[in-house]
Amino acid sequence: MNDLALPADALLAADQRHLIHPLHHPNDHAHARIFTEGRGAMLRTNDGREFIDGLSCLWNVNIGHGRKELADAAQKQMAQLAYASAYAGFSNEPAIRLAERIVAHAYPSSRAVYFTTSGAESNESAFKFARYHWKRLGRPTKVKIISRVYGYHGVTLAAMSATSLPGYQKMFGPLVPEFLQVAPPYPYRWPGNGDAGLGAADAVEEAIVAHGADSIAAVIAEPVMGAGGVIVPPPTYFPRLREICDRHDVLLIADEVITGFGRTGRWFALGHWGVEPDLVSFAKGVTSGYLPLGGVIVSKRVHDVIEAAPPDEKFMHAATYSGHPTCCAVGLANIGVIEQEGLPERAAVMGKRLLEGLETLRSLPVVGDVRGLGMMAAVELVEDQGSRKPASGLGAKVVAECGKRGLIIRQRGASAGPPASGDSLCFAPPLMTPEATLDRIVQIVGESIAAAA
Ligand SMILES: Cc1ncc(COP(=O)(O)O)c(C=O)c1O
Repeated sequence: MNDLALPADALLAADQRHLIHPLHHPNDHAHARIFTEGRGAMLRTNDGREFIDGLSCLWNVNIGHGRKELADAAQKQMAQLAYASAYAGFSNEPAIRLAERIVAHAYPSSRAVYFTTSGAESNESAFKFARYHWKRLGRPTKVKIISRVYGYHGVTLAAMSATSLPGYQKMFGPLVPEFLQVAPPYPYRWPGNGDAGLGAADAVEEAIVAHGADSIAAVIAEPVMGAGGVIVPPPTYFPRLREICDRHDVLLIADEVITGFGRTGRWFALGHWGVEPDLVSFAKGVTSGYLPLGGVIVSKRVHDVIEAAPPDEKFMHAATYSGHPTCCAVGLANIGVIEQEGLPERAAVMGKRLLEGLETLRSLPVVGDVRGLGMMAAVELVEDQGSRKPASGLGAKVVAECGKRGLIIRQRGASAGPPASGDSLCFAPPLMTPEATLDRIVQIVGESIAAAA
């Protein structure tokens, strides 16, 4: 008998005794849902309940659950060569082929890939690529990283220092030095009548000027902020940001850990605004979460500098699992599914359907904002629509009501900001989610808001 066959109450008791969860508090595990099976956009728990996976677990199961092709790819690769080092002088075919495929789907200026095993590690690596770049070019003082309020970049120390959601930092300070935050392009909460895109891009420039361009290595930005509440920038933001980065010799890191691999309706998201980054962090959707994998896509400009380094300035960034053959084989199978099923195109069409459905919820007085791009969306809750005063505490109740009705979503809690904002319900179902399930999500959310409010 394996552990999965333990009675449900014994499993839960063992969970409470021995397992520390990400975002851990014992209260959250009094009635933990223990997942046993996933199929398409549905998850099943050990008490036989079925749930719609309204966030693709953690924005990552892009192709949906239970795809045998990925299991087969892992099995085949593990049987042949489960792991081998990709350190200097060593390589393996799945890593080589996956890097080539990712570059082909990324930006015209994209050139090469460094693999990691998570989103945070990808961002840590991107920061090091940026610092390395400037040191190699004889500008060693360019070390600071600018991020945006409500940005989420992971929870390892440097990634957490770029993340700007106070709950993730409160009990873990001090933060790593040389990280600073500026205002986000948040149209619903932008003060005054000005354009949030131009204003927020100018806030980056003000920070560069205030600190001195000679101290700034890079700006990191999610094309659409995810965990911070699915904040979609106005179309003016990224073109202006690119221009500012170029003017001040600052690298632009696109954190595409959520937005990569089809989520927004394109393979990678900055193409929505005709912008190319210097570095791209990715993870999650590269394997749809079937195995842990992430990485950094490096543009030709950055790659050339690495390739031209003298031996005593080589890129000494070692990670045991960089280029892990089995994870990369699963990544290849996952990309195959995304390509064959045209999932980025589907995300564009179905995401529109989801957003239009959520828009109808504006008739509820506590729904302040509805926003989204591709298959990611949010509903921001307010005390009343006129004042836009943030609703606090309502989001958790709505999430609980959704759970009772068979839908799993997450919320970003209200924040003092600045800018202050209300609880935001976040949606990112698998890109293959059937139409009827998307419509059901909207229905459940409407009922749950009404019940909770
Ligand atoms: C935009 C973004 N960057 C980085 C991360 C961190 O990824 P991981 O949890 O794999 O470290 C996340 C995770 O949600 C994310 O959404």
